[in-house]
Amino acid sequence: MVHDIVVYPDKRLKLVSEEVAAFDETLHTLLDDMYETMIAKNGVGLAAIQIGVAKRVLVVNVPLESDEEESDLQPKENTLEIINPVITYRSDEKIKFQEGCLSVPGFYEDIERHAMVTIEYQDRHGEYFTIEDDAFLAVALQHEIDHLDGKLFIEKLSYIKRKKFEKEWKKREK
Ligand code: CO
Repeated sequence: MVHDIVVYPDKRLKLVSEEVAAFDETLHTLLDDMYETMIAKNGVGLAAIQIGVAKRVLVVNVPLESDEEESDLQPKENTLEIINPVITYRSDEKIKFQEGCLSVPGFYEDIERHAMVTIEYQDRHGEYFTIEDDAFLAVALQHEIDHLDGKLFIEKLSYIKRKKFEKEWKKREK
């Protein structure tokens, strides 16, 4: 089921999400709904709080590069389902990437993050995994894990850029 996205400045986006203890049907439905919602809204990642569920759950699906139909670029089997993630390594090296967020629609800005991270997490059955990656996936995972801690990418903007964003956002809300 496709859910509505919780949009900034909704206070729920500031919640620190709770760890998942039960790897049951409820979790599986949540994960399936998150995938459907992410695809319906043209996202590459989604944290549970973005559909109003304060659990440490996120999905990421980096589109394939191909000439296929657009709808085939993010197949469900390519979805990383990440539960209770912990970042256990952060490289000193940083990279800048243009980020956007379904909860801050229509706004994109370059954000600096660690170029490489190692993440320990559980899958939908509660099994433990480690993922080491670089570039786009590392950025996406850092962005989504921030959501689990109640943080948005706009909080990483410089003071001036943040002010500019707030001004633009207010104008748009009218
Ligand atoms: Co986001």
